[in-house]
Amino acid sequence: MDVGTIGFIGTGTITDAMVRGLLTNPAAVSLVTISPRNAKIARALADDFAEVSIAADNQAVIDASDMVVLAVRPQIAKDVLSGLTFRKGQFVVSVIAATNRKTLLERIGADVHLVQAIPLPFVADREGVTAVFPPDAHVAALFSVLGTAVECESEDEYDLLAAASSLMSTVLGIMDVSAAWLEQRGLAKGKGRAYIAPLFASLSQTALRSDTVTLEELSGEFATKGGLNEQVLSDFHQNGGRDALILALERVLARIKGA
Ligand SMILES: NC(=O)c1ccc[n+]([C@@H]2O[C@H](COP(=O)([O-])OP(=O)(O)OC[C@H]3O[C@@H](n4cnc5c(N)ncnc54)[C@H](OP(=O)(O)O)[C@@H]3O)[C@@H](O)[C@H]2O)c1
Repeated sequence: MDVGTIGFIGTGTITDAMVRGLLTNPAAVSLVTISPRNAKIARALADDFAEVSIAADNQAVIDASDMVVLAVRPQIAKDVLSGLTFRKGQFVVSVIAATNRKTLLERIGADVHLVQAIPLPFVADREGVTAVFPPDAHVAALFSVLGTAVECESEDEYDLLAAASSLMSTVLGIMDVSAAWLEQRGLAKGKGRAYIAPLFASLSQTALRSDTVTLEELSGEFATKGGLNEQVLSDFHQNGGRDALILALERVLARIKGA
């Protein structure tokens, strides 16, 4: 893969994860320019990787890079972008959440090659699944190094995957509530988590491996008629668990669409 030189505006959690993933041996890029904020993260990246240099400011990142990744929080994107000048046709990858293509292009104010992406923290270990819109061979190649790239054909598809990516805290929250309940009921401290985490990992592996079997069928396979799994699934549905999940997804999609 060759994306040329790559730069990051906003050196926070997701930039840290992407840069570490890209520069894991063997490095996928030869030169990475990062903006000076956050100073601590920028310093740590520059100390850890010879390929990283800290630019004087955001404009210097753009000037030094073939591909620029925008990784600031949505609330400040307008202020950050308004003072910057991009080159015509420059590759710009926005990972800024809940900010659509039209808004981004207005704020960038130049005729750039804009692609949006949703990298997740797992990219640091080259294990992330990243939604990309619109489909783009260069950007898909970049995120394929960092795990798996899923190219979206439409903004609607991309928004739906953004909604799905918002489930991370909830899934960990289900693990947390379950592990805490186990300990509250008498399981030795730490054992709940030690059991729950591999259980969820095995279920994810099953879903990944059995991609010709629908998830509904898989769920059914684990729910023996009259058995314990069937009872918990039924209780979960009857007590509003499914409705709460669908409502949360609808509400986060509305928020994403409203951007
Ligand atoms: N974290 C994730 O898992 C994730 C996943 C996908 C997408 N995203 C999106 O990626 C973007 C960044 O998220 P994050 O989690 O990395 O946030 P973050 O950790 O808060 O990082 C944002 C960075 O922007 C810096 N910054 C603030 N003002 C700036 C300016 N004027 N110019 C340049 N940089 C400036 C901040 O520096 P200071 O600390 O000095 O203020 C901070 O380092 C957000 O839009 C988020 O929605 C995040």
